[in-house]
Parts: sequence; C-alpha cells; structure tokens
Amino acid sequence: MFPIFLYFAWIAADEYFSFMYSNSYFAEGTNISKPGCPSKCGNLTVSYPFGIGVNSSCSINPSFAINCDASFDPPKAFLSIDNVEVLGISEAKISAKNRLSVQCYGEDGILREGFYLFMNLSSTPFSFSNENKLTVVGCDDAAYLSRDKGTDDDEDWPDLISSCAAMCSKPGELSNGFCSGIGCCQSSIPKGLQSTFIYMDTDKEHLKVHNFSSCGYSFLAEQSSYDFNVSDISDSSFVSRIIETVPVVIDWAIGNQTCSQTNEIICQPNSVCVDSDSTIGGYRCNCSPGYQGNPYLSPGDGIHHQRNQHSC
Ligand SMILES: *[C@@H]1O[C@H](CO)[C@@H](O)[C@H](O)[C@H]1NC(C)=O
Ligand SMILES: *[C@@H]1O[C@H](CO)[C@@H](O)[C@H](O)[C@H]1NC(C)=O
Ligand SMILES: *[C@@H]1O[C@H](CO)[C@@H](O)[C@H](O)[C@H]1NC(C)=O
Ligand SMILES: *[C@@H]1O[C@H](CO)[C@@H](O)[C@H](O)[C@H]1NC(C)=O
Ligand SMILES: *[C@@H]1O[C@H](CO)[C@@H](O)[C@H](O)[C@H]1NC(C)=O
Ligand SMILES: *[C@@H]1O[C@H](CO)[C@@H](O)[C@H](O)[C@H]1NC(C)=O
Ligand SMILES: *[C@@H]1O[C@H](CO)[C@@H](O)[C@H](O)[C@H]1NC(C)=O
Repeated sequence: MFPIFLYFAWIAADEYFSFMYSNSYFAEGTNISKPGCPSKCGNLTVSYPFGIGVNSSCSINPSFAINCDASFDPPKAFLSIDNVEVLGISEAKISAKNRLSVQCYGEDGILREGFYLFMNLSSTPFSFSNENKLTVVGCDDAAYLSRDKGTDDDEDWPDLISSCAAMCSKPGELSNGFCSGIGCCQSSIPKGLQSTFIYMDTDKEHLKVHNFSSCGYSFLAEQSSYDFNVSDISDSSFVSRIIETVPVVIDWAIGNQTCSQTNEIICQPNSVCVDSDSTIGGYRCNCSPGYQGNPYLSPGDGIHHQRNQHSC
C-alpha cells in the first residue's frame, strides 16, 4: 500500500524553541544536590543522582550529567546524549523536549518538506516510557516506528515496532478529542525502547485533501498531554506548538541490574530499592513511608537538607 519512501535530511526540529517547566523534585521542598554542586539550571531543579556539569562529579555517572547551557536565557538543560533537552525530572521520569517527523506536500503531490524524528538513548539507563503513544496527525499519513534509521537506499525498513495511520476525506468528519484513525491516531509503543525513528508515508500524497491538509505529523506523546483539535490539521504552527507544549516522557533508573542483581545499591538507610519496570533493568530508591528527602544521598550530604529523624 505504501511502497515508496523518500528520504530527506535529518533535521532536528527542536532547535528554535524555548520552553522551561518549573519542577519540584522528590518531596516538596527537597532540593538536594551533592555538596558544592549547583542545583538549578534555569528553572529546572537538578537533584542527585542527576548533577549539573558534564565532566564534574556532581552526578552519579556520566549518563546523569546535565549539561546546563548558559548561552540560552534562561539556561537550557541537556542530557549528555543526543542533545535531548530536559524540561523536568521527577522520581522516575524525565520530560524532554519533543521532536517530530513531518511531511508536507504541494498541490501537485510532490513532497516539499520532510524530516524524520530520531532520538537515541542507547548506552544510557534511559528509555522511552510506554506512557508515550505513537501519535499521527494528518489526513493521508501513516507512521512507522523503528529502532533504527537504516540507510538511504534501504527499501526494507528495519525492525518495525509499531505503526499508525490517520486518514480523512473532509474536515467535517473530524472531531475534537477523537484520536482513533480519522485525522489523528495513537498506537502503543513497547517498554524499554531506547532508540526511536519515525518513518512517514502517504497513500495519495495529500492530493485529495490538499486544500485543507497539506502536511502530516508524527511524534511520541503521553496520551493525556495531547488532545486532538480539528484545527490542528491545517495549523501552520503545529510543529512549534507541539515542541513547546507536548513533552516526550523518558523512564530513568540506576544501572541495568535489578535490586537483587546488583551488589552496589546506593539507596540510603531510610529508603527502599525498587526495580525499574522498563524491561531494560535498573533500580531506583524510594523514601520509606514517613521519611522525606533524597534517598540517593546520605543525610547530611546534601545542601538544604534538614537533619532530623525523618531524613531519608
Ligand atoms: C522560568 O524562570 C523565569 C525567570 O528566571 C520566569 O520568568 C519564568 O516564568 C519561569 N518559567 C516557568 C515555566 O516557571
Ligand atoms: C534549591 O537550591 C537553590 C540553590 O541553592 C535555591 O536557590 C532554591 O531556592 C532551592 N529550592 C528549594 C525548593 O529549596
Ligand atoms: C569533558 O572531558 C572530555 C575528555 O576528558 C573532553 O573531551 C570534553 O571536552 C570535556 N567536556 C567539557 C564540557 O568540559
Ligand atoms: C545509537 O547510539 C548508540 C550508542 O551511542 C550507537 O552505538 C548506535 O549506533 C546509535 N544508533 C543509531 C541508529 O545511530
Ligand atoms: C476543498 O476542495 C473540495 C473540492 O475538491 C471542495 O468541495 C471543498 O469545499 C474545499 N474545501 C476547502 C476548505 O476549501
Ligand atoms: C481548538 O483550536 C481552536 C483554534 O486554535 C481554539 O479556538 C479552540 O478553543 C480549540 N478547541 C478545543 C476543544 O481545544
Ligand atoms: C550493563 O551496564 C554495564 C556497565 O555500564 C555494561 O558494561 C553492560 O554491558 C550492561 N549490560 C547490559 C546487558 O546492557
């Protein structure tokens, strides 16, 4: 049905927009970086095991190092891998600036603009959360999720994992909030996915829908963070709006071994070790009930840490 795929330059669509979330980490008021380490990058609070500084010892290991780029105002935070921009960090998740695959056709059915999302977290203990859905917005558009981007002349798309197709024939058939195939669709992605490439294809090159829909879009998004609006089909600022308002969610954990496999658990006394359920292994620490603080640092280690019996 979709025999031809055209490759274009891989353009990171996320370069031009600035958006920061404020973020409270662990329990309210907790703000514990390692002694001597900064705890803020712009509005982002960075607590151990994350740490600011690429070659500093502020993070538990290089995967958790946050590169705080002060050439932006306010400064922007990036993971050490693949220029992933961090918007927020919580006890188990990172929300990151999104990327999209986009294809836009002219009235003649010729592809005018095409760029394809690729994000690669391989070699880190991070993976895309399966709370993200593969989301397609368009009226003649299909998306195929793969771990790999293959080669330019590759007609056998490598290792397809998921797909979704959004079709429509007239604007009147679309409904706000409905994302199940007509103008919008969402499909599941597996747990533990560490690299993601979204191919896009089309059936009729938008020829039959061009006067109200000339582009198709695809991205990963938590289901609740994107609500389909009929006007999205023809919104020329759709790409920047998604990048600014819809983050992609990443699961984090320490290492690639479970609590029972590793013999170097760093969880502090008043905390418990919890296995990550991402399928790529790793664990996290949670404060025991009744305790608050950063379960990765011993009480007294952190700055702004209240040394009382409830310290975790
Ligand atoms: C981020 O901080 C700046 C000042 O540094 C402030 O103006 C802005 O409102 C903050 N943004 C958020 C989302 O908190
Ligand atoms: C965290 O630490 C920074 C820098 O020391 C400070 O400006 C900020 O107010 C602290 N935040 C909280 C929630 O304690
Ligand atoms: C970090 O260290 C590596 C090797 O020691 C060096 O190549 C790199 O430029 C350093 N990065 C920063 C941001 O200092
Ligand atoms: C993803 O990153 C890993 C580790 O950095 C690298 O080995 C791999 O080749 C990358 N994958 C692609 C498709 O670029
Ligand atoms: C698009 O074109 C069709 C005929 O090809 C026409 O019926 C329809 O009204 C047009 N829609 C818009 C929004 O211009
Ligand atoms: C849909 O988008 C339009 C135009 O941006 C906006 O006015 C409207 O409030 C949106 N509707 C919903 C349900 O979000
Ligand atoms: C687990 O992590 C260690 C250290 O980072 C690495 O050497 C090893 O290859 C990883 N094992 C798997 C199965 O990914």
